[in-house]
Order: sequence, then structure tokens, then C-alpha cells
Amino acid sequence: MVETRKVLDEFNTYVPGRSKKEIAQKYGIKEENIIKLGSNENPWGASPKAKQAIIDCVDEINRYPESNHEYLKEEIARYAGVDKDMVIVGGDGADELFDVLAKALIDPDDEFIVHPPTYTYYEYVFKQHNAKAVYASWNVEENCLDVESVLNNITDRTKAIFLCTPNNPTGGLIAQEDIVRIIESTDALVVVDEAYWEFSETNNVNLLSEYDNVFIIRTFSKVMGLAGLRIGYGLTSPELVEKMSRIKPVFSLTVPSQRAVIATLSDEDYIKESTKKSIEEREYLYDSISRIDNVKIYPSKSNYLLMDIRETGFTAAQLSAKLMEYGVIVRDCTSFQEMDEYYIRISVETHPKNVKFVKILEEVVG
Ligand SMILES: Cc1ncc(COP(=O)(O)O)c(C=O)c1O
Repeated sequence: MVETRKVLDEFNTYVPGRSKKEIAQKYGIKEENIIKLGSNENPWGASPKAKQAIIDCVDEINRYPESNHEYLKEEIARYAGVDKDMVIVGGDGADELFDVLAKALIDPDDEFIVHPPTYTYYEYVFKQHNAKAVYASWNVEENCLDVESVLNNITDRTKAIFLCTPNNPTGGLIAQEDIVRIIESTDALVVVDEAYWEFSETNNVNLLSEYDNVFIIRTFSKVMGLAGLRIGYGLTSPELVEKMSRIKPVFSLTVPSQRAVIATLSDEDYIKESTKKSIEEREYLYDSISRIDNVKIYPSKSNYLLMDIRETGFTAAQLSAKLMEYGVIVRDCTSFQEMDEYYIRISVETHPKNVKFVKILEEVVG
């Protein structure tokens, strides 16, 4: 057996969430009747303009994609309200950019700060580069960041601080004044993950003109409806963009991905409608589940909501398995650090599916 890096012993192969096909086959349910609430996707589908743009470029896929994507960056810059040279794009989603950041920032034994429970990929990637995770905390009950726990953990070795707003899986926001306190307390890069910012109708782009140690990361996988194409982008200082561009994968952003992004950004009505419907459905789910006595639902600023189900007598694993029999896929949060075995995250679906889900949940836990 070939000898691989020691750090690989700390990792297991990623176990993805259950797919619609898998559940449909296992329980004999039609695929279109599966209610997929596990992955925070856009349930209404991609923009029709994006679909057309993909069809229109099929005759070009024998050629390599453009690697500088100048026009694409221009369009993203226009959407985000920054200069073009502050944009970097990733072809395996925002996740690719976390990897490029780790390659750009980390020397062995450097540290990074995360606030569990939060998106776990930061840790997954940074540890691969031999960085040491340092844990701040997120107050789940209040659904807010414990800012002091971040400030108290900054050391000379801190290279990156990850702030997820809205936070996945809890749905709470981080106040901008707290982000500013952290930025001003360190030279480390403060990575503000705004994967879900559209659903919160607020963002932190204004900080980019004042501070050069901020990196805002976003994705086309959520409100933009392009999760299957894997496209993310980062907004930061032109100097950091230039450094990262030296080491990022050159051709990871495919021709169909580039065209789909440009078409989606030109479809303002689609973006507005997707945002509006997601927020309406989130509030529908919040109100309806609030009425179920033994389930606690947390207010959310994203396209998913966290439920505490300890009063139902089920663990999250048991309830997820039970819901699967009805064709419902949810996210059991037991594997999130700092969460016990009683939390489940659900994403918004189309209205008929949300209505159906609430009925099923009432039936199962009632
Ligand atoms: C908080 C957060 N950041 C980043 C991502 C990565 O998004 P992408 O699909 O662009 O890799 C996700 C994906 O679910 C997420 O939840």
C-alpha cells in the first residue's frame, strides 16, 4: 500500500445526504412525491434563462472554458456592488474557494477559528492542510454568536476566522457590529460566509471598502438554483484575489456553468421571486410548526429552519428514519459539533410539499 499523508488518518469518506432516487426505491414512493428538505436547495428549479443558456452552449463543450472569466466577474461584481478585481470564482462551488483559501493562508500548525454548530466544511478543508481548529461558540438557544468566545481565542497563529451568517444549521444572523469588532481585533482573514444572504435581505459588502482582512463568500447553489453546477464566488481585496488566482484550479468553472451564471444574473425577476417565495415558505413553516406542542422551532433568516424535537420522545435519528418512510428527507444534526441528538434541520420546499410535510410531522409526533 502506498504511504499517504498522516493527516488522512483523521478523515472518513464523506457520507452524502440521501437522494430522492434512493428513498423512492427503498419505500416504493414515486420520486416526484419525495419531499427533500435536507440540502437547502432552491425547490423551484433554475431560471429558464439559465436552462436555455446551457442548451445553447452544447456545441462549445469540446473546447476548454475561458479561464479568466472576465465577463463573468464583471456581472458578479455588478450584482454584488464591488469592483471586478475584487471577485474570485470557484468551479466546485464556494467549497472550492475554502480549499484555495487554505492553500493560500496555512503553514503547518497555524490556527483557524470556527463557531460550532456551523457549516462543517471549513474544518474539513483546513484540517487537510494541517491547520489546527480552535473553537469559539454559537449560542443555540439565543441563536447568536458568542463574540467574546471568538475574541478570546485569537492568537498569533490565527490565520482565518469563519463567521457564518445566516448560520448553518441554526439560521441566526451575526450582527455587523460584532463582525467589525472581530475584524478590528486581528490581522487574520475574517471569512464571512454569506451563502444564504439573499434570504436575510442584509449583507456585509460595505465592510470590503474599509477593511482588507475580510473575505465574503457566496454561492450560486441556493437562491440562484444552480447547486448541480457547483459555482461559488468570493469578494475580497484585489491583492488577495491576485494571490489566490496564482494557485486556484484553472479550468474548474465549466462552459455551461459560466453561461448559466450570466443568464441567471440577467434574470432579476427570477432572483426576486425565488427570494420572496423562499421567505414566505420559511415563515409558513415557522408558523405552522410553532403550533405543534412538542416541537420547538427556531426563527430563521435563511431558507432552512432548525427544530428541537427532544419533547417528542424521538431522537433526531429515529425521527429522520420515521419521516423517510413517508418520503420525507430531513437533516439529522447529530453530527454537528455542539449539537446533541435532538436537532433536525429542514429546508423550505414548494408550498404544497410544505403543507404535506407539516401534516406528516403532526401525525408522527402528535
Ligand atoms: C454555509 C454554507 N457555506 C457554503 C456552502 C457551500 O456551497 P457550494 O454549494 O457553493 O459549495 C454551503 C452549502 O450548503 C453552506 O451551507
